[in-house]
Amino acid sequence: MKKEFDILVVGELNVDLILDEIKSFPQIGTEILADKMTLSLGSSSAIFASNISVLGLKTAFAGMLGDDSFGQLVVSSLSSKNVDTQFFKIDDKQRTGATIALNYGEDRAMITYPGAMKVYSVKDIPREAFQSARHLHFSSPFFQENMRKDIIKLYKMAKESGMTTSLDLQWDPENKWDIDFEKLLPLVDVFLPNKSELLAVTKMSEVERGLKYLTGTSRIIVVKMGADGSALFENGKITYYEAFKNNNVKDAIGAGDSFNAGFISTMLKGYDLGTCMKMGNLMGAINTTERGGTGAFSSKESVKQTAKDFFGQEIKF
Ligand SMILES: Nc1ncnc2c1ncn2[C@@H]1O[C@H](COP(=O)(O)OP(=O)(O)OP(=O)(O)O)[C@@H](O)[C@H]1O
Ligand SMILES: [Mg+2]
Repeated sequence: MKKEFDILVVGELNVDLILDEIKSFPQIGTEILADKMTLSLGSSSAIFASNISVLGLKTAFAGMLGDDSFGQLVVSSLSSKNVDTQFFKIDDKQRTGATIALNYGEDRAMITYPGAMKVYSVKDIPREAFQSARHLHFSSPFFQENMRKDIIKLYKMAKESGMTTSLDLQWDPENKWDIDFEKLLPLVDVFLPNKSELLAVTKMSEVERGLKYLTGTSRIIVVKMGADGSALFENGKITYYEAFKNNNVKDAIGAGDSFNAGFISTMLKGYDLGTCMKMGNLMGAINTTERGGTGAFSSKESVKQTAKDFFGQEIKF
């Protein structure tokens, strides 16, 4: 059967309300002003879906929203990037989650109300969603309590439907890392933690030891290391790939998700792993040229132009 989509993204959805140019810190019982405000699509999974769709993959998303205006903003933002939302569940008993970020230069304070993402579960994903795509990507299990509990079931269903799979853990706010990784990782073809997440999961102090500890689990492990680039672990061998230098970083919000979009889109187009790693690093670096996770990914043409202007790279899409 011909699959309608290249990729099905399962994950959390929320909006980001970002306040900038705040002159002092908030204090209980007082009120202060911010001179700038942005309301935009948030969440790691949505940033990934939006960017991989811009890179040319036919993308569908399965997630949960409340029946509210924040939910409508998520739908319209993703639809404007051609992400298919037919597998969304809109639940009128839930509220769409939101993150309020107070920006102070490079630092920020954030409060997240998870809302619908907390109750979303494997049972809410329509069966045909698994049948409709070649690849499953899931992100942020520790922000999605019900999905985390059933994560092995999720990957088994993907495998039974003949999909290849990837996983981005993201941080565990409780720092418990309560997932049976021995059972899970063999079902994950590409495991994409960042350095801190790898070290936390394996309880090791170095990337190399962490990776060796995971020998015999996922077929491919990729570790994201910020401005230090990334590491590929395959067949017991570690290869490091340098980052593309950006001397004018706006912020690194969503750089990991953009790395994932670069790596997985290149893999699903059939390229070798070295090319996937370079495209991952390049998309991560491009992400840092604009604010937020989707700012540098408005269209394929703009991504191509940034690759050329900032990093001297010609991309053939
Ligand atoms: N300052 C930077 N300069 C160049 N490239 C960068 C920079 N920061 C990140 N990148 C690129 O983006 C990739 C992913 O970034 P990072 O390691 O921060 O992921 P992450 O911690 O998962 O991020 P996220 O906050 O999106 O979850 C890096 O491996 C690198 O290729
Ligand atoms: Mg990350």
